[in-house]
Amino acid sequence: MQTPLMIGIAGGSGSGKTTIARKIQERCTDLAITIFQLDHYYRDLAHLEPAAREKVNFDHPDALEMELLASHVEQLAMGKAIDRPTYEFASHTRSSKVARLDPVDVIIVDGIFALYSPEIRKHLNCAIFVDVSDDVRFIRRLRRDVDERGRTNEGVIKQYLSTVKPMHDQFVAPTKHQADLVVHWDHFNDRTIDMLAKMIKSSIRRP
Ligand SMILES: Nc1ncnc2c1ncn2[C@@H]1O[C@H](COP(=O)(O)OP(=O)(O)OP(=O)(O)O)[C@@H](O)[C@H]1O
Ligand SMILES: [Mg+2]
Repeated sequence: MQTPLMIGIAGGSGSGKTTIARKIQERCTDLAITIFQLDHYYRDLAHLEPAAREKVNFDHPDALEMELLASHVEQLAMGKAIDRPTYEFASHTRSSKVARLDPVDVIIVDGIFALYSPEIRKHLNCAIFVDVSDDVRFIRRLRRDVDERGRTNEGVIKQYLSTVKPMHDQFVAPTKHQADLVVHWDHFNDRTIDMLAKMIKSSIRRP
């Protein structure tokens, strides 16, 4: 059985991980690439009252069901299909729907904690960290949360200072040292995408 190329993309919230993963996918249309988003592995908070769910620290690695996540990453790395949970952000609960992820050529593991757990890292062929300064990431997050998620400036600032920033500094930023490649993404940089796409294409050898 052919096993996929496993690529991890970590970096702080708003660094551009998902944008980079999508651009790689657009550049490699001849390959089957799955973007595997860690966000779907947030713990199901259905047992809590809605008000209590809002108070959970979603920026701490314990907010994710790491064991299930690691076992799914392992199965994918072995070239097996998985049934990925589906997370509903609005209610902080796991949907009854699962998404079948079939074997592909390349799996891109996308999430702030993609390089955090050794149980995930050991399955990666290439570990990337997207390094973008805190102010740029904060501005992107502020715009996204206000424009697309109906949040207030004050609410976004409060969450950033209380959990996003301290958890980033403690758990996400140090994983830069686990990366094989550190990429800058302050601006859209086509050369970065070109290089990553070439690396991926040359790593996939078809019989
Ligand atoms: N190079 C860039 N220059 C300007 N804006 C960008 C750039 N890359 C991404 N963005 C924008 O910044 C926002 C965050 O990007 P993206 O969603 O890719 O980040 P992320 O790292 O996946 O964040 P999260 O961890 O919160 O999922 C988006 O609105 C995106 O369009
Ligand atoms: Mg993202």
